[in-house]
Amino acid sequence: MRVTKNPLKTSLTEEWGLEYPIIAFGHCKDVIAEVCNAGGLGVLGCAGLEPDEIERDVNWLRERIGNKPFGLDILIPASVPPSGTREDFEAQIPQEHWAFVQRIRREYKIPERDAQKVADERAKSQRDVLTQERARAQLDVLIDMKVPIFCAAQGNPAFIIPECHSHGIKVFGLIGLVRQARREHEAKVDYIVAHGQDGGGHCGPIGTFTLVPQVVSAVEPTPVLAAGGVACGRQLAAALALGAVGVWTGTAWLASKEHDVHPIAQKKLLAARSEDTVRNRWADGAYSRHVRTKFDELWDSKEAPPVLPRPMQGILMHDLVEAARESQVEEFFYSSGGEAAGMIHEVKPARQIMYDWANEAMETFERMGVQL
Ligand SMILES: Cc1cc2nc3c(=O)[nH]c(=O)nc-3n(C[C@H](O)[C@H](O)[C@H](O)COP(=O)(O)O)c2cc1C
Repeated sequence: MRVTKNPLKTSLTEEWGLEYPIIAFGHCKDVIAEVCNAGGLGVLGCAGLEPDEIERDVNWLRERIGNKPFGLDILIPASVPPSGTREDFEAQIPQEHWAFVQRIRREYKIPERDAQKVADERAKSQRDVLTQERARAQLDVLIDMKVPIFCAAQGNPAFIIPECHSHGIKVFGLIGLVRQARREHEAKVDYIVAHGQDGGGHCGPIGTFTLVPQVVSAVEPTPVLAAGGVACGRQLAAALALGAVGVWTGTAWLASKEHDVHPIAQKKLLAARSEDTVRNRWADGAYSRHVRTKFDELWDSKEAPPVLPRPMQGILMHDLVEAARESQVEEFFYSSGGEAAGMIHEVKPARQIMYDWANEAMETFERMGVQL
């Protein structure tokens, strides 16, 4: 088989001037900067950031990467209320749920958080109070600062696509179902990120290997990125073979040297097998995958109340999850991570991770008889 071009050069690498068709999603800006400087594309997760923090981080990134492209990922789930305060939502949480959480705290001796710390955090950040109003304030910073790429997590970005395009901003839409991909394609999204259930963080119910080719066919000619479970070069080659123009990855970077991930989270990730990650809804009301904790067992028990809708479930769980993290209660230490955990056993520089994947992908194509 003869091919006339390097298979790692795709419309993604061409449009953004990349060395590799690899996108790294992460909440750590050092990783994003390193990936951008090493020939990939970095996307910073803004879920936990207030608008002024987004502005600070965009300036920080631009100082390190110059005018190389990068993206911001903002949660715009349609299922959250238009507006509201923590107090409004807390009042909607049934007593049964507070009692269940208190029982976990008592039985497993998870210490209360420091009251002053909680008050300071609440004064500064609304990270667990998901509303459309909050998403809009985050989006306004992205648009004002002309960030080249907006990545829309969990909701259809149709309402903002014309505005982004009028500012020269490209829109990537994350989806977990073929019908969501069709909807976003009709709304003229620029890239579709087909996120399989194998991946870390919020994800739909379909495996990456099944989702990606269906999405590629459904949204042609919109380019598709394969996400969920990718952590080696053979998968990069497979993603391209499925019709994707690149891979969108998250879990792998938690094991990069530059990442500021908590040491316990990293230790659990490195030790986890693929079957040690689990996908469920107790953390914030939407399905997400993480390394298994004691919380999973307790929310699966028959004593557990029904999981609440957003944002109530996240508000219910936030302080207990944070308390377990701050007191380093390992059994309850919560951290997003996907099935790729079973393939990740060591910490490496981000640059080397990308280089190793690209090398292995090329070896894969060669093994298959592709001659350049
Ligand atoms: C620690 C972690 C946090 C995540 N947080 C978000 C998020 O805030 N927004 C989002 O769109 N995706 C989030 N994701 C999902 C990623 O965007 C990506 O789709 C996923 O990691 C791909 O699968 P992989 O983990 O197998 O590489 C997160 C993933 C991880 C591992």
